[in-house]
Amino acid sequence: MKKQKSFIFRCSNCGHEEPKWLGRCPECGEWNTLIETAASDSAGTAAGFAPRSCAAKAPHSYPLSSIDPQESVRISSGIAEFDRVLGGGIMKRSSILVGGEPGIGKSTLLLQAAAAAQTKGRILYISGEESAGQVRMRADRLGVMGGAVYGGDRIEICCTGVLEDIEIILEATHPVIIIVDSVQTLYTDKAGLTPGTVNQMKYCSWELISWAKEHDTALFLIAHVTKEGVIAGPKTLEHMVDTVLYFEQNDADCRFLRAAKNRFGSVDEIGIFTMGERGLTNVEDPSLLFLVSREGELPAGVATAAVLEGSRALLVEIQALTAPAKGAVSRVFSDRVDQARVSRIAAILEKYLNLRLSDQDLYINVAGGIRITEVGVDLAVAAALYSARTNIPLPVKTAVAGELSLAGEVRPLRRMAGRIKTGKSLGFDTFIGPASDETNPVLIEARDIKSAIRTLFTS
Ligand code: TYD
Ligand code: MG
Repeated sequence: MKKQKSFIFRCSNCGHEEPKWLGRCPECGEWNTLIETAASDSAGTAAGFAPRSCAAKAPHSYPLSSIDPQESVRISSGIAEFDRVLGGGIMKRSSILVGGEPGIGKSTLLLQAAAAAQTKGRILYISGEESAGQVRMRADRLGVMGGAVYGGDRIEICCTGVLEDIEIILEATHPVIIIVDSVQTLYTDKAGLTPGTVNQMKYCSWELISWAKEHDTALFLIAHVTKEGVIAGPKTLEHMVDTVLYFEQNDADCRFLRAAKNRFGSVDEIGIFTMGERGLTNVEDPSLLFLVSREGELPAGVATAAVLEGSRALLVEIQALTAPAKGAVSRVFSDRVDQARVSRIAAILEKYLNLRLSDQDLYINVAGGIRITEVGVDLAVAAALYSARTNIPLPVKTAVAGELSLAGEVRPLRRMAGRIKTGKSLGFDTFIGPASDETNPVLIEARDIKSAIRTLFTS
């Protein structure tokens, strides 16, 4: 008996499959994108994402001990902050997604990295957005072409987004690093007829990721991300790649590179850059960006926090303002420190120091526009709020660190000694915080919020 061919409906935008036709794809929300497809077309290689080697070889396993750990196969990008975020350099055979808003500096960062890494082999820069001439102009501007600094002439460029063309060029050049600028321009007619869909991007990216893994190559996939953080497209690539980096800009010339996922390093590290005439520059002493230099007394409402960003200690200025509440309830305006954290600290101050804040609107800011998520910022936010509400300034050259418990205790922190060392190098001579493992003459230990505030405001 002849077997009847079965059909399914596959979304041409995201690759989602449904047994019945629907007007709207339940996965990506697009209308009229479900297209009838023979079921066998999708089996096993749904939208082509199955590993390519599976069909070719008989499945078998290996002893884990026989596998080369590959720990030493990292290539330096020549940019210290970039290497730090990557976990110590570019890992061969890995795929790295670099997301960020248009204009943030993704192409610049990768061209600079390519210039330094070309000493290790050929780099293939695939530009689907800009012409070869535009990329060359950027390279000249960055001063990365030839010359005494980098030497070599091993950056190759191709301006296409067509997957099949890229694959031919890859086989011919065998680069050590591939840069795809950007994933949104990749196209193959195997993934539907409309260019620019999520399905196209996923299919093509997966093919390139597989190629890189099989050929000892590192792959950078640049992706544009919109302002609202709607990264429906690139977000769907996150699970396929080894590392996901996002480039953010918080004020005019300071850019942060954060790892959202890293199979080869910590996700706590951030890279800090400034963009200048000749591209991106590492910020070696970031505290200078987040502190405001002042002569004489501090204004009320200002406190300096000694916090950690990844493995690095930073000193940042926390600014607080309290003003009579405009509405019936007090509100918190804080976008650099989590609002719930600020509300909790305000409640602790109200409870343990009888400081009335519930009739006030509270504003918190961090100088230099960096977002602080580390718990050690609690005590500095409390000190800044107390100072703003009472109009008494904090003493100069004093830094504060500590996590606050709901019982009003100052809880111990990691790496107190590192925070103090960084602070001392910036001229701070007094620290208020939890007891540290090593006794330190400049640290005044505070056990609870009451004693911390007493020490800070009666010295
Ligand atoms: P670009 O790398 O093109 O951003 P993206 O690839 O993320 O869209 O660079 C963006 C901005 O940086 C652009 O507005 C110009 C500026 N820029 C400099 O200020 N100095 C430089 O040396 C370069 C190359 C760019
Ligand atoms: Mg670009």
